Amino acid sequence: SSVGIDQISFYTSNFFFDLRTLAQVQDTDPDKYYQGIGQEKMGMAAHDEDVVTMAANAAYPLVQGDVAQEISTLMFATETGIDQSKAAAVYVHRLLGLSDNCRAVELKQACYSATAALQMACALVARQPEKKVLVIASDIARYELNTPGEATQGCGAVAMLVTANPRVLSIDPEVGNYTEDVMDFWRPNYRKTALVDGKYSTKIYLRALKKAWENYTSVSSLTFADFSHFCYHLPFSRMAQKAHQHLAKVNKSELSAEQLEAQIADTLRYNKTIGNSYTASMYIGLASLLENSAQDMADQRIGLFSYGSGCVAEFFAGQVVAGYQQHLFKDAHLAMLDAREEVDYDQYLKLYAAPDPQEGECVEIPAATTGRFRLAKIDNHKREYVVA
Ligand code: CAA
Repeated sequence: SSVGIDQISFYTSNFFFDLRTLAQVQDTDPDKYYQGIGQEKMGMAAHDEDVVTMAANAAYPLVQGDVAQEISTLMFATETGIDQSKAAAVYVHRLLGLSDNCRAVELKQACYSATAALQMACALVARQPEKKVLVIASDIARYELNTPGEATQGCGAVAMLVTANPRVLSIDPEVGNYTEDVMDFWRPNYRKTALVDGKYSTKIYLRALKKAWENYTSVSSLTFADFSHFCYHLPFSRMAQKAHQHLAKVNKSELSAEQLEAQIADTLRYNKTIGNSYTASMYIGLASLLENSAQDMADQRIGLFSYGSGCVAEFFAGQVVAGYQQHLFKDAHLAMLDAREEVDYDQYLKLYAAPDPQEGECVEIPAATTGRFRLAKIDNHKREYVVA
């Protein structure tokens, strides 16, 4: 039987910062952002929100009724974790009321680890098809102010329920992998923001795409022409356009520029207004495609390219299950994005500086998120989460 994504739900903060405002402050042409990197807005987490609350909010719709007790493993992918030891998954396990007998763990490899989690989840379910595995990816993308990376910040979380006979996307077992030790983007333990060699990172991304694709075609009989759509890791939407043109060229595809664009355009919609969400971004792109495609995608094959700086890359494929539309959360997602509040430059700078009581002092955090879960307090080095 098939294994894959039974349901997919995402969450982002209720605040956003428009890149037009950033351009104005920096005296830059807004088209550099709107056109050049293909980004319009970026989600800014409230101070009472972090990767844990965003993750719980994303997963909440998937764990209604009996499902909460049926999940045997929770895998939490992030590169902006809140603790060097304790897995963010353990906090989320409590907030969601999962079974005491559920396994909970955190995975890290830059923006890639959600894909490792998804593949491991598929392997677990293939071995014991009655099990359900919850995969969550959640990140807050932060670069130094006044650096080229600043416009590519954002935040978001995605949750996927992995089961046998999935109702949304069955995942093929064949994968193409590529790993290489490079320093394109990294964040040492003592830093809040990432270090990045921006131009180099985009080159490595494209090289890793070619290498992962070559590995994929050596193990799969599928070719470029077998895919109707492609989802790429989305640090910014222009990156996916460059990647897709690159892959088309590698494959000597004869599709026109318009046809190539149509294969990825729907994956970019949410990302343009949420920004980079690191581990979550490709999967928010997948939700964007499934929820916004004008055509019925039943039985079509989607190619997915996951990239994590440093670097690890993977190309894999999924086949859309007939009737998938009935299992999406499109209306809730659109309503959430619609209800967001714009912040001005001063508010953006305030949100940028998240509470960080390093001496163990008690910080009560005023309510600001409209999400169901919030970070109410940090006291004696402990983060206290509540249902809002
Ligand atoms: N109108 C239209 N387009 C304009 C423009 C204008 N007025 N001004 C500039 N542009 C275009 C440029 O021509 C350029 O397009 P091309 O790339 O097609 O040439 C584009 O806008 C960007 O301009 P710059 O190259 O000058 O931008 P920059 O150097 O200031 O920043 C960046 C770009 C290096 C990607 C930067 O955003 C960055 O460092 N981002 C963070 C790193 C990143 O996201 N890397 C991606 C690969 S790594 C990864 O994927 C992992 C991850 O999540 C981080």
